[in-house]
Amino acid sequence: MQEQQLGFGIDIGGSGTKGALVDLQTGDFIGERIKFETPRPSTPEAVAATAARIVELAEWDGPIGITLPGVVRGSSMLTAANIDASWLHTNIHDAFQSVLGARDITFLNDADAAGLAEVAYGNPQSRSGAVIFLTLGTGIGSAFLVDGKLFPNTELGHLFVGEEEAEKIASSGVKKSLGLSFTEWAPRLEKVLAEYERLFNPSAFVIGGGISRKSARWLPLLEISTPIIPATLLNRAGIVGAALAAHSPDYLAG
Ligand code: BGC
Repeated sequence: MQEQQLGFGIDIGGSGTKGALVDLQTGDFIGERIKFETPRPSTPEAVAATAARIVELAEWDGPIGITLPGVVRGSSMLTAANIDASWLHTNIHDAFQSVLGARDITFLNDADAAGLAEVAYGNPQSRSGAVIFLTLGTGIGSAFLVDGKLFPNTELGHLFVGEEEAEKIASSGVKKSLGLSFTEWAPRLEKVLAEYERLFNPSAFVIGGGISRKSARWLPLLEISTPIIPATLLNRAGIVGAALAAHSPDYLAG
């Protein structure tokens, strides 16, 4: 019998910090997902303490993958739009290792993690061609995937579309804060996707984040010609992708 390969992922988002043990053969969680609110202010020390609580509750002592909502390079975060600005001046590896102990910790962008998870375990259509994976949450995250291989740290949520950044136009956070119906929100998403289409000409968009669960409500309202595929891993994607990247760091280039 093949030995079960396990990994542990933590997904740090604007509102929640979540972690779970992952079966790396199937991409399924083993046991419960553990979730806490992301502390406010969301400083590295406070968030690392929350991550340590999750790992302790899960009784996991192996390597860990951690997603962050910004550009991640090695032990540094280079942007911090939806998290405390103090991350920009922190050695994130040291901050987490001081509470998680000496073990391998891999950091990566949250959308990159979700995109990698979708390629590995999700809709097979995300595995071929020039795919733009988008995750719509508090912000808009993006992952560029060419035949399943990641070009990391693209930040399409911050591309200006007209006068505004894309994530200020069409994230699910904006939908919620402005109280928009799907009919009111869909043209905003259409405007953003049309600009991405104009500039990058992908073979498909794969759209993830919590809102992909309700794709039947907004997908029929979009008219752009590039195929739009709802992601299948929903809220699991970030955690699963983090666990995968920690186990096989060669998924991450750059
Ligand atoms: C950040 C991205 C992140 C996205 C989703 C954006 O504001 O700049 O790095 O992937 O939000 O969390």
